[in-house]
Amino acid sequence: MKLLVTGGAGFIGSAVVRLAVSRGHAVVNLDALTYAACLDNVAPVADSPLYAFEQADIRDRAALDRIFAAHRPDAVLHLAAESHVDRSIDGPGAFVETNVNGTYHLLEAARAWWETQGRPEAFRFHHVSTDEVFGSLPADPEVKFTEETPYDPRSPYSASKAASDHLVRAWHETYGLPVLLTNCSNNYGPYHFPEKLIPVVILNALAGKELPIYGEGQNIRDWLYVEDHADALLTVLEKGRVGRSYNIGGENERTNLDLVRTLCGILDELRPKQSGAYADQIAFVADRPGHDARYAIDPARIRAELGWRPSVTVEQGLRRTVEWYLANEDWWRPLQAREGVGQRLGTGQKAVAR
Ligand SMILES: NC(=O)c1ccc[n+]([C@@H]2O[C@H](COP(=O)([O-])OP(=O)(O)OC[C@H]3O[C@@H](n4cnc5c(N)ncnc54)[C@H](O)[C@@H]3O)[C@@H](O)[C@H]2O)c1
Repeated sequence: MKLLVTGGAGFIGSAVVRLAVSRGHAVVNLDALTYAACLDNVAPVADSPLYAFEQADIRDRAALDRIFAAHRPDAVLHLAAESHVDRSIDGPGAFVETNVNGTYHLLEAARAWWETQGRPEAFRFHHVSTDEVFGSLPADPEVKFTEETPYDPRSPYSASKAASDHLVRAWHETYGLPVLLTNCSNNYGPYHFPEKLIPVVILNALAGKELPIYGEGQNIRDWLYVEDHADALLTVLEKGRVGRSYNIGGENERTNLDLVRTLCGILDELRPKQSGAYADQIAFVADRPGHDARYAIDPARIRAELGWRPSVTVEQGLRRTVEWYLANEDWWRPLQAREGVGQRLGTGQKAVAR
């Protein structure tokens, strides 16, 4: 199968590109190379004859039409997005432009291509979304997000993703475009951009800096190893039922404080400090405005219908992740110099119009 992967130079998209090429799929990686992109993420497959790269913006319809015609993909895996909640609080405009308008242009380009090909049944437009569209859950562990949970996005990021999900469903209902949707919980793993919680904690710990925890650290997230997410996406692409959505999660709920303490424990073992423990660096900082209390995915549908389940526990995945950051300073060091990285963003104090 030839896949057009958007956002393939980002964190999850690059995991999809690496996995798809390793499984023998041809992949065209379409990415605008924003601040969050890094082509080193796909270096392991960049020389493969199965891999091609196109620098393009998903808001650029002419570029999209050219790329569809040139590469003739069998499926689109759409991951390109603005993805950092804190940045969406300071500058929501970029999120509406890429996540909503960009998805609209990509849908239209895909539909035009699919129609010129005689509307092949086997074509797929797979939209990759987040569990954040469902809003915030109460503490009751019995209550989880299912595919039927009503949408209730609460940040500019999740609202823009929710809008894009609605567009994708509408393109299926109205035009018959063969779409698939997935809503996944928080990812972590290798190549995670160093502005997100887990890499920030690992790298600040190593640098002897504070480990910032928003509020009291009691917000709960459901963590999934990124390579398991990539595997789930290819499973849904190959076996998922058209027009259907699938929730993807690792059934690994942790409070942010527990997660940070676990990371500190792994670091204490793998790279012990001269004195004291990494947890001594934990610092509680002002909470993010509108910080959702809890996310948790019920993955019953993808498990029952498609037989997918994660391959690693959160403890195994976190250890692999810490080991990867310890071994790959050449990857993360230059990214720390990028705009906004290492700064506190999303306090609601700074209004940025973009
Ligand atoms: N990170 C998570 O925990 C998580 C969880 C669930 C779903 N998702 C979704 O998965 C997708 C990928 O997330 P990620 O964490 O890998 O994001 P990321 O920020 O690491 O990567 C996004 C990529 O998209 C590219 N991009 C941004 N705007 C673009 C545009 N206008 N045109 C073309 N390319 C553009 C960037 O250059 C970057 O390479 C997103 O759609 C996100 O909403 C993420």
